[in-house]
Amino acid sequence: MQEKTGAGAVASALTLEEKASLLCGQGAWKTVGVERLGVPSIVLTDGPHGVRLQDPNAGGSAFDINASLPATCFPTAAALGSSWDVDLLARIGEALGAESRAAGVSVLLGPGVNIKRSPLCGRNFEYLSEDPLLGGHLGAALVRGVQSTGVGTSVKHFAANNQETERMRISAEVDERTLREIYLAAFEHIVTTAKPRTVMAAYNKINGVHAAQNPWLLTQVLRDQWGFDGLVVSDWGAVLDPVSAVAAGLDLEMPSTNGFSAQRLVQAVGDGRLDEAAIDRAVVRLLELIEWTAAGREPAAAPDLDVHHALARQAAAESAVLLKNDDAILPLDPDADAAVAVIGEFARTPRYQGAGSSRVTPTRLDNALDALRDAAGEKLRLSFSPGFLLSGDEEPQLVSEAVAAAEAADVAVLFLGLPEGVESEGHDRDDIDLPAVQVRLLEAVARVNRNVVVVLANGGVVEVAGWHRHARAVLEGWLGGQAGGSAIADLLFGRVNPSGRLAETIPLRLADNPSYLNFPGGEGTVTYGERVYVGYRYYDTVDAPVAYPFGHGLSYTSFAYSDLDIRVDGSGDDVVVRVRFTLTNSGPVAGKEVAQVYVGDTASSVDRPARELKAFTKVALAAGESAQVELALYARDFSYFSTTHDGWVLEPGEFVIHVGASSRDLRLSAPVTVHAPEPVAPLTDESTVAQWLADPAGGPALRASLDRIPGSGLGDPAILRMVESLPLTRLAALSGGHVDIDDIRRQLAQASAQEL
Ligand code: GLC
Repeated sequence: MQEKTGAGAVASALTLEEKASLLCGQGAWKTVGVERLGVPSIVLTDGPHGVRLQDPNAGGSAFDINASLPATCFPTAAALGSSWDVDLLARIGEALGAESRAAGVSVLLGPGVNIKRSPLCGRNFEYLSEDPLLGGHLGAALVRGVQSTGVGTSVKHFAANNQETERMRISAEVDERTLREIYLAAFEHIVTTAKPRTVMAAYNKINGVHAAQNPWLLTQVLRDQWGFDGLVVSDWGAVLDPVSAVAAGLDLEMPSTNGFSAQRLVQAVGDGRLDEAAIDRAVVRLLELIEWTAAGREPAAAPDLDVHHALARQAAAESAVLLKNDDAILPLDPDADAAVAVIGEFARTPRYQGAGSSRVTPTRLDNALDALRDAAGEKLRLSFSPGFLLSGDEEPQLVSEAVAAAEAADVAVLFLGLPEGVESEGHDRDDIDLPAVQVRLLEAVARVNRNVVVVLANGGVVEVAGWHRHARAVLEGWLGGQAGGSAIADLLFGRVNPSGRLAETIPLRLADNPSYLNFPGGEGTVTYGERVYVGYRYYDTVDAPVAYPFGHGLSYTSFAYSDLDIRVDGSGDDVVVRVRFTLTNSGPVAGKEVAQVYVGDTASSVDRPARELKAFTKVALAAGESAQVELALYARDFSYFSTTHDGWVLEPGEFVIHVGASSRDLRLSAPVTVHAPEPVAPLTDESTVAQWLADPAGGPALRASLDRIPGSGLGDPAILRMVESLPLTRLAALSGGHVDIDDIRRQLAQASAQEL
């Protein structure tokens, strides 16, 4: 391996036992140091939306996720994914990096970029999107932000970790095209554009092979094809066999196995089952990581936690999605002479993050009720009623109190959502319903007051179709982090104009989701039967009705799209398609629009989704202001992954470009023709007669054989047409030896040699 730094020299000074010990963690959160050679131990800890560093004085288990030192709890990924704001995420990454450095953390374990295959996944709060382009671009921004501070990241969980059920042993059965186009694509974008210092190998198997010891995944794809030169760390406890893992391309097993794995590695080298070079490669990568993070271990200015809190507040406001706003009931006027009934325990007791390894101890915690009271003018009369118990138990007294408050008010604002523990690392949900007590409360309130606003706090999407008719406005606040309460007040009173857009479709019913019949699988496997048709790729292709589509989100203003102009430069792999249009804020107040570009392949030789997100941008515009927007598309944006060609294929022909405000709200569309060489499938023995005859070199070789078949009638086009679909092997078997595949291959090789 080409030595990039002194790491190789240090590695050569280590004994085999020392090298093996380096490849396994020290304790729960550290790497092993080698004092005699000046190799420090470094700390890796969670992420992704805040620094969760075990309090060393807390005693108890090193895995006590509630005993972590205070850090800014930013909105979780489900919220940040809905911001569609690359610059914002980079800034959050910088803040996370600064707090990591101050805490002595060298690698922050995140971002989580697994695709939201099913709304039931217990960790969807911790992931960005159902779409790999959105997840990839936002994940890359977080990585760049964190690493700009000298702190490493660990993009996770690589790969196809899309459920919590049986996560440590389930095998995700996924065809390669689906892996490439959907489940690996965000990782590929992040690895190739943001260069994360580490990648975390997932718990699950992929097509029967554990990710943490999967040579195809960790070496062939990640390193050989994508050029990743960082370190692969296992998820905690994901390594079954350290020898297979190191041989497959894993570099660091976490957490410590108290020497057991190191001993197995040494033993394997001793008896020839493992090449010591594999250990050396992993050691060099670890030493290079330690060396790279050295700058990040230098003392830096203590982060300004007030500034970070303000950033968390801005992020939560940018991420909230205004799903509906009938008659512009929002924003509320804080100075109105009116009564507002604030209802719902979540207004007072915020639900602001998910459960599991990402759980942060916040530096402070805002709640919406106090924030609304602080922001309300003198004449605005706010009341509060908890309305329901977080336990989900029925409490009629709370309901009647809330209904009375609503009846006496001009507007009722209900804070609803998913209680703690409903969604968590380690288990999936059984449904996507709001708790029944909350829906009943909403119905009771709506019976006495038609001016109902619902604010949601949830990480995974919830079903809304059964109740959103009772609300004139619905604001999806996700898990908004420690400042989420203030952000909701900012949005409700119009101090911030909502600009979030759905990064995950909200289906009418769970059963409408394309993974429904294949989730969470059983008997050790989960089959990704929906293939590439994940989320909107399915709903839009079959034109299924949804509650709210991917990319949807309202504003307090409106936006107009015009003057679509598409320019095609170049062809084939060098093609650049420039999509230009005018975006105008056609409404009364300043706001931000997320303009989305979708591409559809109108004539492809394989089935493809109706349209796919291929570019987006978030644009801030004053009322009445216009901006010229240009987004560029490249060859990959028109290509699909072909297992026949074992690579990405750009088929020449017509595509359609859509520009819009969601995957359904397509404001501008135009056809575009992309020129490229016709892809020629590599000829194999299983290629058909037609494919062989169409090949410039293979055709003559096969025809020479066919002509030698006496009385075959193959000169008759009708006869030939009948055999065209035969694989060559079958034709050879039927030809009585006249079609000699070896002879054909020799002729092909000669023809190819003559071409060179
Ligand atoms: C967990 C998670 C992973 C986390 C790691 C360390 O099980 O799957 O996301 O970074 O272990 O807590």
